[in-house]
Amino acid sequence: MEEVLTLDGIVLRPQALPVRPNWEQIFWRSAPLVLEIGIGNGEFLVRLAEQNPGINCIGVEIDRDYLLKARNRVKSAGLKNVRLVPMEGSKALSRLFAPETLTALYLNFPDPWHKERHKERRLVNGAFAWLLASRLVNNGQFLMVTDYEPYAQEAVAAFTACPAYEPLWETPLRTDLSSYYQTKYARKWSELGRSFFYIGFRKVRTVEIPEWVLRTYPLASLRGDEIMPHVLLKTSQPTDWQTLWKSVPKGLLWQQGSDVVNVKDCYLGDNSIIVDLVVTEGRLMQRFFVSIHAHRKGVMVKVHDASHPDFTQGVHRAIALLALTVKSFLSNAQLHHHTCDDRAWREAVKHLSEFNSPESIYTPN
Ligand SMILES: C[S@@+](CC[C@H](N)C(=O)[O-])C[C@H]1O[C@@H](n2cnc3c(N)ncnc32)[C@H](O)[C@@H]1O
Repeated sequence: MEEVLTLDGIVLRPQALPVRPNWEQIFWRSAPLVLEIGIGNGEFLVRLAEQNPGINCIGVEIDRDYLLKARNRVKSAGLKNVRLVPMEGSKALSRLFAPETLTALYLNFPDPWHKERHKERRLVNGAFAWLLASRLVNNGQFLMVTDYEPYAQEAVAAFTACPAYEPLWETPLRTDLSSYYQTKYARKWSELGRSFFYIGFRKVRTVEIPEWVLRTYPLASLRGDEIMPHVLLKTSQPTDWQTLWKSVPKGLLWQQGSDVVNVKDCYLGDNSIIVDLVVTEGRLMQRFFVSIHAHRKGVMVKVHDASHPDFTQGVHRAIALLALTVKSFLSNAQLHHHTCDDRAWREAVKHLSEFNSPESIYTPN
């Protein structure tokens, strides 16, 4: 398994990672699992792994250059108990970890997003605290350090509001924690007289993850055996691909709150159309291609073989919406069969039936 997942034994390829992989197999041993999100150059993670050879450490980072620096650091240290994943933090937390599997999560100086209008990009919020509660083992810990007090206060409020936790210390927020390892980044700020805010919580009870949190992080409810959605339309006449290609609308295909299906572009091929689609659900955004192509019975609509989105409700809904839209442009087309989730299919049918003409549902780019 390890050979397929990683070329160097350290960095895991996200596309090869299944939903909630077997970490014991990946590390070749069973040991407490510790996660750091936003590892930067990996200094903290390497230190943690060196000082605790009995734990399995996973570092997640979105910046490629940082990830490579961290990889080199792990390699030079000769550590066998570290794996790195190039992935967004909340995506990693919801997709890669089964409930009650993490012993600790560390967040060192997460991006503060100072501007008011960017606040919602912060990793830690109310939903994040709930998501983490479902992933931590009992007694599992959350430790965060930031130099931006408003973010620290916000994190404390989010964790205090979730009944799964109790503060690690007398107060959940403190400005000194001498035992905490300071990276070069932290030492530099410290020398300049900056204050640090440490936040610590322990999971003390199991709670059921609420529906609104699952809507915020749709990957948290995946089982890993989801069916790939496809729709087969039966047609009695040859398809005019050029006309169909021109008919496929660009722009907003569907919107409910922050959940969106957006057609970015559309390409004409031989007896096929490829649609570039963005599906946003809560904090998750997936961009992938959909293939609309000739089938011996008519026209098939499915996720393109070169795309690997997770088959969330939003992806099912997007395929259903596109297929029903295509059907409306093909005279005499009938539904042969579909594998879309029932709820997603019903939503798509209802949405399209609320409009008299298919054109009226689209807002051009
Ligand atoms: C301010 S730096 C801190 C780096 C490191 N933790 C340290 O203390 O030196 C924040 C790091 O988090 C990464 N990052 C920001 N948002 C992230 C996210 N949502 N998921 C994963 N990594 C993220 C950034 O690329 C950057 O490397």
